[in-house]
Amino acid sequence: MKILICETEPWEREPMESLKSEHDLTFIDSRLNKDNAADYAYAEIVSCFIYSDLGKRVVEKLPNLKLIATRSTGTEHIDSDYCQSRGIAVSNVPTYGSNTVAEHVFALLFAISRNLPAAFSRTACGEFSHRGLRGFELFGKTLGVIGTGDIGACVVPMAKGFGMEVMAFDPKPRDELVERYGLSYVSMDELLERSDIVSLHVPLNEKTRHMIAKDEIAKMKDGAVLINTARGALIKIEDMAEALLGGKLRAAGLDVLPEEPVIREEVELLRSVYDRQHSLETLLTGQVLMRMRNVVLTPHTAFYTEEAIDRILDCTIENIRGFTRGQPVNVVTGDR
Ligand code: NAI
Repeated sequence: MKILICETEPWEREPMESLKSEHDLTFIDSRLNKDNAADYAYAEIVSCFIYSDLGKRVVEKLPNLKLIATRSTGTEHIDSDYCQSRGIAVSNVPTYGSNTVAEHVFALLFAISRNLPAAFSRTACGEFSHRGLRGFELFGKTLGVIGTGDIGACVVPMAKGFGMEVMAFDPKPRDELVERYGLSYVSMDELLERSDIVSLHVPLNEKTRHMIAKDEIAKMKDGAVLINTARGALIKIEDMAEALLGGKLRAAGLDVLPEEPVIREEVELLRSVYDRQHSLETLLTGQVLMRMRNVVLTPHTAFYTEEAIDRILDCTIENIRGFTRGQPVNVVTGDR
């Protein structure tokens, strides 16, 4: 089959080349989008990461497409309904990085609790003073985990290891987490009201978009910390920025922002200012958040460890092999 593998970095190409004996591979560095999709109209399989746009406008330009094998867990960059109507299968990598992402939650949390970014920049200038860098302990604090799927479930024992109290909200509670770790499931409101730190681990879909906005932030404890390693648009960032500026929230630890594909490339950012396809308010807020002292922001690197990327590539190769041999695996159905 003719396979287009986009958004690839050099280190991804070697393992994917194992498909060469059976298939015709094209690697491109760039994202697939409405401007370049017609160049790849021959593609029968597309493997992409999350910055490609596999919305209807793009998939329409790929008449031979049979499978989209995304090298991610999230699939919100793909119009699954349209793909289904065309009989195009979608596969993902469901569990490549549960521990990887869960550990990143604590990387962000420690960066906040021990003021690490400010401490590092101070010593980098040769100044060895603790003034203004007083932190707080995680021990004894209450962590509220929203979503206890693969990643949220890994966060729970890690938090327990640091002596934290942990509560969770998920419409599908998991008995094994209650039995094994004494996790208590509570309502969303109770979680927001009682947590010192809230961490998000739910997929982005129409039900979860802006699940944390003004009203939810108002219910949170004064001085609470918000961590988001899931997807940027789960939070209405304009409301979060206001709460961070006003002191309602002490800090935020973020690995994700809304409109990431635009934020990643300055040219895209500029273009979006003129074509007004994106919310300028959201884009501007993203830029401001990057510069705020009580925000710790990483550029969507929660997934990016040696171990996780090996698993991502192995699983994607298996997804493509399984599909072409008539035994599809990790096929995505409905909202994740
Ligand atoms: P998962 O599908 O295993 O778990 C999601 C959980 O969220 C499920 O238990 C589900 O019942 C729950 N949920 C759904 N709607 C909810 C709601 N409204 N309130 C509370 N819980 C709700 O997904 P997994 O693997 O844990 O990943 C979670 C998200 O993390 C992914 O969808 C993806 O967007 C993001 N992610 C981010 C990465 C990064 O590099 N920053 C890497 C991998 C995933």
